[in-house]
Amino acid sequence: MTDITIKITDRNGVLHEIQAPTDMNMNVMELIRSYELAEEGTIGICGGMAMCASCQCYVLNDVLKTERNDDEEAMLSEAYHVKENSRLGCQIHLTEDLEGLEIEIAPEQ
Ligand code: FES
Repeated sequence: MTDITIKITDRNGVLHEIQAPTDMNMNVMELIRSYELAEEGTIGICGGMAMCASCQCYVLNDVLKTERNDDEEAMLSEAYHVKENSRLGCQIHLTEDLEGLEIEIAPEQ
């Protein structure tokens, strides 16, 4: 079992250093929910289908090497508060190479 450390700034600006499992097929949206870093009902509304943007995050460092996928790109083109470093948390799967990832949860949609 391998855990990685991820830094997540919540919507109140509070920084959390989280131990994230890489062997449970989880994504960043599910991680935020499991640590209750965003209010229930304000994140993960579509269940991780890239169809709501409630899980939008800003990526703050260059640990994440993957680009937005097509569904993610389409959803973000319609979402609010989108920045160049926006990603959908549900499309970022927790893998060992994400050790040290730093993200900030975007404002509520
Ligand atoms: S949970 Fe809906 S887009 Fe990620």
